Amino acid sequence: MPAVAGIGGSTMRVRRCKVLYLEPREQVEFDLEALLAGGSGLARERRWLVLAPHLGQEVEVDAVERELLGALSPDEWTDSGQLSDDVSAALKRLLKAGLVVSNSKRHATLRERDETLRGTYWHPLAATLHAFTRWRDADAVQSMQDTGTETAAELRETLGPPPVEAMDRGSHGQRLALPRTARTDFDLLLARRATCRNFDAERPLSIALFAQLMERVFAAQSQVRVSDDTVFLKKTSPSGGGLHPIEAYLIVQNVEGVVPGLYHYHPIAHALEPLPAPDTSLHELAMVAVAEQHWFANAHVMVLMAPRYDRTFWKYRSHAKGYRVVALEAGHLSQTLYLSATDAGLGAFITGAINEVPLEQAFDLDPITSGALAICGFGWRGEEMVTMELDPAGEVWRLEAITQEESEK
Ligand SMILES: Cc1cc2nc3c(=O)[nH]c(=O)nc-3n(C[C@H](O)[C@H](O)[C@H](O)COP(=O)(O)O)c2cc1C
Repeated sequence: MPAVAGIGGSTMRVRRCKVLYLEPREQVEFDLEALLAGGSGLARERRWLVLAPHLGQEVEVDAVERELLGALSPDEWTDSGQLSDDVSAALKRLLKAGLVVSNSKRHATLRERDETLRGTYWHPLAATLHAFTRWRDADAVQSMQDTGTETAAELRETLGPPPVEAMDRGSHGQRLALPRTARTDFDLLLARRATCRNFDAERPLSIALFAQLMERVFAAQSQVRVSDDTVFLKKTSPSGGGLHPIEAYLIVQNVEGVVPGLYHYHPIAHALEPLPAPDTSLHELAMVAVAEQHWFANAHVMVLMAPRYDRTFWKYRSHAKGYRVVALEAGHLSQTLYLSATDAGLGAFITGAINEVPLEQAFDLDPITSGALAICGFGWRGEEMVTMELDPAGEVWRLEAITQEESEK
């Protein structure tokens, strides 16, 4: 078999990137000609796409490239001279795309991305999900308008009825009724928790309240020092393996004594670390961050929860539940924030509808080792409810007449 000679003049060692999935995708497009010819009016095209998380973008491959990807080991290096001439062009394209990596200097950048992924110990499916569900310029508001799903009534109209709100299992006669307990202050606090969509941009937040919330939610309360280089933190929320991978990156817009800007919060020092200003205005970044949801964009403080995946996956190596554990932790931190804010008389929110890519750029985060997972925020509630909040019992707003339809938004 003739060898692949002369890729770059000499042979090199190559191997397949560590993780990739192949998707046979069908694309359907409207085709007027097909319709006029008496057909369905739809043109269907099938393509093979490669999803490789170290690249973060899809790559289309042909049959020769697809077979070559299957033939190369992701771990053992192959001398390119041992490959047939027939695959020479395919190998070049795969090297250029980063689906095959080599020991050559020319391919160093994409080889390093592959090595970063290898060294972070992602579960391959989780890495792929994480890499390919990131947004760059999503507009959640426009999307709701386009799909007719802005209000609860529209949702019902467009999507039909949802699955029932509470499920019956077994017969009613077998139910074991549980005693109701007298409400304590803690119940009252829980009752006053509601997602805030109306921040008061005119009323600055004091540094004392800001610091109190950061300390309660994100600070290390104590430490367990196993050795000089192995330390576990104790926080007010639980964390898988006690690893507390979630970093708090802040967009501070309206706190007395804190220059508006980007910060990293240090959980042991309980201190803000100023970061370079974003390319756009702070408010523009805040809008993009929450996918144009203007009801969150003027929060006094936004907290980007950015897990250090390499820390959790240090213990849970290529673990099937690793990514899920980290996502659950963001929920815990968010609930602690909601309750701490409510206790302080403030409003809080969380959103998963975020544009990860510009956030990673603004905070200089590598999505393989770290990355953006969710945004929560807090600040003073405004006096008027402009955007709907879910407060049917009037615990927060003491409103007389919220229609059931509106309150379910
Ligand atoms: C993970 C998560 C993501 C959410 N994302 C959004 C969002 O993108 N936009 C929004 O307005 N509310 C968002 N919310 C808030 C919910 O809409 C809210 O919790 C729900 O309507 C119930 O209201 P309540 O929190 O006041 O009880 C999110 C909540 C959670 C837990």
